Amino acid sequence: MVSILERLEQEPYGALSAHSEAKEISIEEVTQKVREKMLEHHADLIIEARMSRDKRREVVTLISNVIISSDLYVPRLTRQDLAERIAQEICGLGPLDELLDDERVTEIMVNGPHEVFVERDGVLEATSVKFQNDRHLLDIINRIVQSAGRRVDISIPYVDARLPDGSRVNAIIPPLSLNGPVLTIRRFPRRYTELSQLVGVNTLEPEVADFLRNCVENRLDMVVSGGSGSGKTTTLNVLANAASPNERIIVIEDSAEIKIPGHHVVYLEARPKNMEGKGEVSIRDLLRNALRMRPDRLVIGECRGKETFDLISAMNTGHEGCLSTVHANSAADCLERMVGMALMAEEGVPVDILRSWIGIGVDVIVHVEKDFGGHRVVSGVSLVGNKPGEGLTHFHVYRRGHGLRLDFPSWFVEKIGERRCNSLAKGASR
Ligand SMILES: Nc1ncnc2c1ncn2[C@@H]1O[C@H](COP(=O)(O)OP(=O)(O)O)[C@@H](O)[C@H]1O
Ligand SMILES: [Mg+2]
Repeated sequence: MVSILERLEQEPYGALSAHSEAKEISIEEVTQKVREKMLEHHADLIIEARMSRDKRREVVTLISNVIISSDLYVPRLTRQDLAERIAQEICGLGPLDELLDDERVTEIMVNGPHEVFVERDGVLEATSVKFQNDRHLLDIINRIVQSAGRRVDISIPYVDARLPDGSRVNAIIPPLSLNGPVLTIRRFPRRYTELSQLVGVNTLEPEVADFLRNCVENRLDMVVSGGSGSGKTTTLNVLANAASPNERIIVIEDSAEIKIPGHHVVYLEARPKNMEGKGEVSIRDLLRNALRMRPDRLVIGECRGKETFDLISAMNTGHEGCLSTVHANSAADCLERMVGMALMAEEGVPVDILRSWIGIGVDVIVHVEKDFGGHRVVSGVSLVGNKPGEGLTHFHVYRRGHGLRLDFPSWFVEKIGERRCNSLAKGASR
């Protein structure tokens, strides 16, 4: 049996109030009035409710009370629906909520208020989600970055932030962006941590997984190369996880993504400049500090600047088993980029010397790619070294579709030694 009270609750709110003095106003106006009242009395709860569904329910109840006590109504909406919509507006992330509720969405790309794309199950697709206008979108952006203690406005027109749940957010607004405010959210993914999982999703062929495990166990210095979103960080994480649990690993990143459970790990995260342009701690600063922390193995999330020089130096001064990533289109491109980035740091070092240091330091490049269907694959593995008379070079030991070669070139055998070369092939020859 439905009680009269419950029936009234479900009646369109307009009908319920038709006999009272209640004013009929637009949903935007009601929202504005309720927002003011809620912020006055429950500001903290509202910030909490952005992250928590339980708090969101508390907010809905409070809003319902405000609607009653202020005698507001909107035609054709029950009070419950109205309260939920207002709650979504003031403490939710507006139109983004439905995308964030979908587990399969890993990336959200908002190109101005009327164009929202997502990556769902690895495939880029347009959505019908829209914001009212630039102002509405900007308001949501600030709500998101607020939970990381940041904001965007005309004086700071772009921001890069990590949310409490690990997601990464970037926003850039006019006049720098010509589309209106642009927002990119990369959600914290459930990471693969084991080589075998990458074999399971057909990213890695089984014999390549064995080969890469041997490379890690033999403490080779390895770089993962690939385009953005191709799976570099994931592959790096999986490689780091293949290290022995007895090693002391120091992980250095711009924004913390890597997790190596069950290992002895120190995680360091760089810090951007503050609003006065001070207080920056770069990857390079952290890397130099890490060398004094007795690392057995250094893991640098990504080399994209001067830190490349320090990583190469570390690799050349007996720090074995370093792991990092470089944004590049191929193994050859990766090496060229490393030369370029290292040169930015130390222009005094002749380029030939730098090249030979890279040849001595880097042992293996693992190249990853994302194909058109969104499927990630390890498409190639290259051995790196200095070839007599030729200098810095690489050799494709694996190309997807062409199998693994175990006839390593002599310059590589000389570089890492016959014993280690033999153990690289262990289990990998099928
Ligand atoms: N092998 C894989 N199979 C399926 N999805 C993957 C794979 N590797 C990474 N991903 C997904 O692709 C996205 C980008 O991966 P990430 O490793 O961060 O790439 P990058 O560091 O190259 O930008 C993430 O959402 C991640 O979960
Ligand atoms: Mg990455």
